[in-house]
Amino acid sequence: MTTTAQGPQSAPITQPQAPLATNFRLPGPTPIPPEVAAAGAWPMTNHRGPEFQAVLQRVLTNLKVFFQTEQPILVFPGSGSAGWEASIANCFSAGDAVAIVSIGNFGERYTLVANAFGLNVTKIAFEWGQAADPQVVAERISAIPGLKGVMITHNETSTGVMNDLPALARAVHAAAPDALLLVDAVSSLGCVAAPMDELGLDVVFTGSQKGWMTPPGLMMVAFSQRAAEATKTAKLPRFFWDYTIAAKSFAQGNPPYTPPISLWYQLDVALSMMVAEGRDNVFARHAALGAYTRQRLRAMGLTLFADPAYASNTVTTVNGPANVDVKALLKTLRVEDRVVLAGGQGKLDGQVFRIGHMGFVKQADMDEALAALARRI
Ligand SMILES: Cc1ncc(COP(=O)(O)O)c(C=O)c1O
Repeated sequence: MTTTAQGPQSAPITQPQAPLATNFRLPGPTPIPPEVAAAGAWPMTNHRGPEFQAVLQRVLTNLKVFFQTEQPILVFPGSGSAGWEASIANCFSAGDAVAIVSIGNFGERYTLVANAFGLNVTKIAFEWGQAADPQVVAERISAIPGLKGVMITHNETSTGVMNDLPALARAVHAAAPDALLLVDAVSSLGCVAAPMDELGLDVVFTGSQKGWMTPPGLMMVAFSQRAAEATKTAKLPRFFWDYTIAAKSFAQGNPPYTPPISLWYQLDVALSMMVAEGRDNVFARHAALGAYTRQRLRAMGLTLFADPAYASNTVTTVNGPANVDVKALLKTLRVEDRVVLAGGQGKLDGQVFRIGHMGFVKQADMDEALAALARRI
């Protein structure tokens, strides 16, 4: 690449322009309502002034409704991956024994982060497409001496499987009562119940670009009192994600450092819409759309990748039909029909495709996307 006074020469210089509007059915990022889009254009404000403080209080209060917790929520700049790092860096010290329950690509990635931080990781892996078996998890973790934590992906976005979180939480607490239970709820929270306090979850995190009808860029996380206590002796280095710094600052009505102000406005508007719809109605809408999508796909003669007993209500993974080039199919849908679906991840690349139905979505959106798919297979 050569650089001139006009800039790099390897790419044509074009005017900035909006991407084409599509029926956008990725399992994150997800579409945003017009009200949320408009909030992204609001003027900047002082992030230590009264207007932002009102936004902050509303956001932190409304998030508790969907986290189903009395614990404070912390909001960090970052994507879902920041949740892996923040949960680990705050709770553990190098060499600590942890178990990671992996049922797909995101469980694998949580494992990579734990290894990068020098934890002593036991991976408890299940076949992709299956949910974690609570009894197997209990047996495996009870054999690990000095176990400090268990990490679980609530909804495995790569396979379209939703773990039975209540059963897993019960099994983990019974088999390893002293271990913290960390839950990646990136692609479930805000759409599906994951009642933190009731289930005794110790760390729960999610990302704004999934069920929250908000662009990517915010990671929201809550720590139980037990996890907050563990942060006091956890020695892994941290600053940006530090629980104590952030919790103290948010408790005083301030972000710990300059926040992505526009994203906070957008999350504020989105949460107000979600609260107005009602938590149970939001959950019911996702359950209905998940079931509807699966039924329509089966009626087309397609087969689904996930164990039907644990099918996710936020994303459906479809096996590529015989003699169909999955990547070509997705391209045709995008170019000809303006319907955007996701491909497979990791070892499922080219073999499956995924349809998101989380956040700002109604049946008419699914009907349009599914009708286009039916025409192309
Ligand atoms: C379950 C789960 N965990 C973690 C992540 C990582 O999030 P991000 O890509 O926003 O960093 C994702 C992203 O799709 C996810 O689905």
